Amino acid sequence: PFVPLRRITPTELATHGARKNASKIYWTVLEGRVYDITPYLPYHPGGEKELLRVAGKDGTKLFNLTHSWVNWDNMLRGCEVGILVSGNEMPG
Ligand code: HEM
Repeated sequence: PFVPLRRITPTELATHGARKNASKIYWTVLEGRVYDITPYLPYHPGGEKELLRVAGKDGTKLFNLTHSWVNWDNMLRGCEVGILVSGNEMPG
């Protein structure tokens, strides 16, 4: 069945940052796609602290600076939450 992608605003994204986040659920964005990176944290070869630098924000630049050869699309397929939309559109 067709499952529409969830639309996520920068405001919602920011609630999943490294600080002031009681949920302890961490999201990042890679090329417009929003991922829940929480399950991957213990497995990241670069460590949790480095990965958390992109929590709650767009991680595309830092990711590509660090290891542009890593196939994130493949790795994080099961962790996709939705797509990032601009902050000022109407819901629905
Ligand atoms: C290594 C995945 C984000 C820093 C790696 C490796 C993978 C990976 C697969 C091993 C690469 C290799 O050996 O060729 C990911 C994924 C990320 C992410 C899926 C995002 C969702 C980041 C971020 C940083 C970072 C934001 C922050 C600077 C590093 C470092 C290593 C590494 C320093 C090298 C570790 C070592 O070999 O000692 N990452 N990474 N990563 N990552 Fe990430």
